[in-house]
Amino acid sequence: MSEAPKRERALGCCYYPEHWPQSRWARDAKRMVEVGLRWVRIGEFAWSRLEPHPDRFDWDWLDNAIETLSAAGLRIVLGTPTATPPRRLIERYPDMLAVDRRGDERKFGSRRHYCFSHLGYRKECARIVTALAKRYGRHAAVQAWQTDNEYGCHDTTLSYSDAARDAFRRWLRDRYGDIDRLNRAWGNVFWSMEYQDFEQIDPPNLTVTEANPAHRLAFARFSSDQVIRFNRLQVDIIRAHSDAPIAHNYMGRITAFDHFAVGEDLDIAAWDSYPLGFLAERAGADAETRRRFARQGEPDFQAFHHDLYRAVGKGRLWIMEQQPGPVNWAPYNPAPLPGMVRLWTLEAFAHGAETVCYFRWRQAPFAQEQMHAGLQYPDGSDAQVMAEIESVAADIAAAPDIDHSGAPVALLFDYDADHAWDIQPHKAGCSYFDLIFGFYRALRRLGLSIDILPPTTEDFSDWSLVIAPGLIHIPPALKKALGNTARHLLLGPRSAARDGDMTIPTPLPPDFPGLDLRIVGAESLGPQMDIELPEGGKFHHYREFAECPAVGRTTIFERSADGQPALVGNERCRYLTGWPDETAALRILQRAANAASIATCELPLGLRRRDTGKEVFWINYNDHEVEAQGLRIPPISVLRRPRDAASNDIGMCSNEKPEAWKEGSDDR
Ligand code: GAL
Repeated sequence: MSEAPKRERALGCCYYPEHWPQSRWARDAKRMVEVGLRWVRIGEFAWSRLEPHPDRFDWDWLDNAIETLSAAGLRIVLGTPTATPPRRLIERYPDMLAVDRRGDERKFGSRRHYCFSHLGYRKECARIVTALAKRYGRHAAVQAWQTDNEYGCHDTTLSYSDAARDAFRRWLRDRYGDIDRLNRAWGNVFWSMEYQDFEQIDPPNLTVTEANPAHRLAFARFSSDQVIRFNRLQVDIIRAHSDAPIAHNYMGRITAFDHFAVGEDLDIAAWDSYPLGFLAERAGADAETRRRFARQGEPDFQAFHHDLYRAVGKGRLWIMEQQPGPVNWAPYNPAPLPGMVRLWTLEAFAHGAETVCYFRWRQAPFAQEQMHAGLQYPDGSDAQVMAEIESVAADIAAAPDIDHSGAPVALLFDYDADHAWDIQPHKAGCSYFDLIFGFYRALRRLGLSIDILPPTTEDFSDWSLVIAPGLIHIPPALKKALGNTARHLLLGPRSAARDGDMTIPTPLPPDFPGLDLRIVGAESLGPQMDIELPEGGKFHHYREFAECPAVGRTTIFERSADGQPALVGNERCRYLTGWPDETAALRILQRAANAASIATCELPLGLRRRDTGKEVFWINYNDHEVEAQGLRIPPISVLRRPRDAASNDIGMCSNEKPEAWKEGSDDR
């Protein structure tokens, strides 16, 4: 039986033995260990070499690779190769290819070309995973598993294939039972969209104009469930043969499936951190941030995902792939400043990561990723970054103990809300992710450490302040849990705006315990239409119209310049009626934190702090020194201080004393 891995902090790398002659494996392994790496992930794309002919496995090379790497002292993460079905499988099952929303097949020739719903492909996956798990499940060196690779990456969660269509119909039948029930729930009387049978329902693509949002949301949920099932199939097989923990490596800002639900079946949430690619491509950063941090990354984007995936992993977080130099896939791909790879690594540890693996050990001289840096150059010599890796290894060896606990603020993240916003943004390009990330950024700017929580949370008593904007649908259990909590709560905009089938509920939203408040309408805002908030900042993108019933006990704490309620509620629970810009978010969140007796400060641009149980980590993304709390924090660095020194005194900035929520006019 394999020994349970220790939860110490460690480094590792991603390695492709099948890309290199066997004669160099031992040298590579020796060098990995010399520079301080402890883990090596292998195998996740190797199907064509594991099974070169149908049902004829070639284990020799993998046996040798595992022996060689483990003999050098490395522990192995073994990946299942299901993200890259080989060519002959497509010949056997031509309809296993995913189909995009335009109806085009996603062809063989790269990766992730399969449809999650194809039953033949699922059988093939079960076969290869069973073979791998039987052979290596009890191997002492295989101390962790990875299922597939980056579910959903390259826009692959949704597939509009025939297999998906058939599975969607089954899913709808299970969920609604009766076609009239579905018609009523979706409002299909509108535009004569009523069905007589589940077999008439297609995926919601290629419609003339927009499809029914209820139909789209159902398809998004179905597609998410297909990922969960696909992953569970592999997990069940691996568990039958191995006691080693199982991870999946999620990607940054992929929200098309419910990661919390996938994470329920796994032991570890790993994610793949490419800060410079993300800044250029998906962090939603403004032009100034993209310029200033082009070689460092968006200062909150990594931390956000560490906090999110720590929750997805129920406390167990890994970075399975960490960018070590320029990548190849973003619109432009700069090199990180010297020191950044070390900074990203230490920041991940400060947010609770157990292991950080670099992608990849050596730059590939062939195929798609030739322009992607590794820890070694293609000729096998060390890249410049190797010195940084050695220095992080030394840092971690010297002080491996990091206790991540005790964040005072909770931020809810709900993948289902992300789907709903995506389907009905009201303003082109507005996304739930951006709304949440804006709040996260502002909280961090205030020096706060944050736990991200799933919408299934039942007890909020560990946090002093709970922030839950944009939850379009709040299921009854969550409403009850949030309603019951004695903690300070910030809701809105768009809280509980739709029922579970994307219908405007009656009573009108948010219909939230203790809030005498009706949202009677909403508008989205075009360019130069921002709405001033006299106390500071603006609403942009989106705002709602709120009414507080005459006999209610709701206070209007703030009105926008045009007289509409902007922040309403009671002592414990506030509702924000619009999408705040940065200034407004900072101001409103600072008051919320102070009212919950959490001290705040305002950190200089590019400086972040992360408080763990015993320490404070100061993380400086700037290429210049910054001063904070009497400390001088060098450029591109992480400063680690015992928490006592900083204790509850958060700031070098003018701390607002804890105060009650600022009172406004009472609307009684
Ligand atoms: C990841 C992927 C890796 C590699 C890497 C390049 O998304 O998991 O296999 O392609 O990107 O940055």
